[in-house]
Amino acid sequence: MKAKVRAHANIALIKYWGKEDEVLAIPNNSSLSLTLDKFYTETEVEFSSEFTSDEFYLNGVKDDATLSKVSNFTDLFRKLKGINDRVIVRSVNYVPTAAGLASSASAFAALGKAINVSLDLNLSDEELSTYVRQGSGSATRSLYGGLVQWTKGNSHESSKAVRIDPANFDIGMVVVIVNSKEKKISSREGMKQTVLTSPFYPAWPSEAEKDLDLMKVAIKNQDLEAIGKIAENNALKMHATMMAANPAIIYMEEKSMQAIRLVHELRAEGITAYFTMDAGPNVKIICQLSQAEVIKAKLLKEFNEEEIIVTGVGPDASII
Ligand code: DP6
Repeated sequence: MKAKVRAHANIALIKYWGKEDEVLAIPNNSSLSLTLDKFYTETEVEFSSEFTSDEFYLNGVKDDATLSKVSNFTDLFRKLKGINDRVIVRSVNYVPTAAGLASSASAFAALGKAINVSLDLNLSDEELSTYVRQGSGSATRSLYGGLVQWTKGNSHESSKAVRIDPANFDIGMVVVIVNSKEKKISSREGMKQTVLTSPFYPAWPSEAEKDLDLMKVAIKNQDLEAIGKIAENNALKMHATMMAANPAIIYMEEKSMQAIRLVHELRAEGITAYFTMDAGPNVKIICQLSQAEVIKAKLLKEFNEEEIIVTGVGPDASII
């Protein structure tokens, strides 16, 4: 009862921010993301009736701080299978952990799929996405490659993700790592605080749903200019909403603004470049993959080589 899976990170073009149901992790709005090829997690799980306790290793180091999250998540599947076997989980992140680069997304997607395989549960990806969601919301989108929609739904079964487009066109991202340290406020806490205290939050879910509809048309037309515009506007609306929380949640740093200024300069030079940001200071530039090196050259005037990562579209989570 052993399996190893690689799952790729995703970056939302239409953001998920706020839960309607904290226990089931049902969001207040649907979201849509692009899976990335350069960032992923590989996770190996082994169940045995002979193990006396669960164990979790992250990047080769025993991680007791995260163990309860891993155990609780695994319990969902143990319950489904009707077993009580303990598990050993070994996970390696090829993502700067907790830097707003969706490490929890690739992590729970890899873990969920590895459990599905090792326990012979035979859940389809759609069914699996409803369980993975309970590990981390954004993880539900990391089961698939390409462009993925997580439909809000209103129950455990209906809040799930599907791929809506393989993204077989000239699209990529240039990620500017402004700061790879652990984020100050987790997205979980940040969204809770925003829902509870931001006077702008009531406008967020309907704005996000409107943006999602526009985004799906832009994707159908493979219109990168529109995709970038809608994504940038959606990200800024999310950040504005959280900045209005009390206390305020500000993920942007000086270097984030510096990267944003460079994006504006690139646009003035006629290059399609739009940014998005998550629960951290890093800036992700949506662009034509074929123009990523031009964008990188511009960024290199003010950032170091190690701070810039060019990535294309990532594949489905898969058994390795
Ligand atoms: C800003 O999925 O990390 O990246 O469900 O509480 O684990 P939990 O939150 P998480 O939130 C991601 C928020 C975001 C936007 C997005 O990825 O859609």
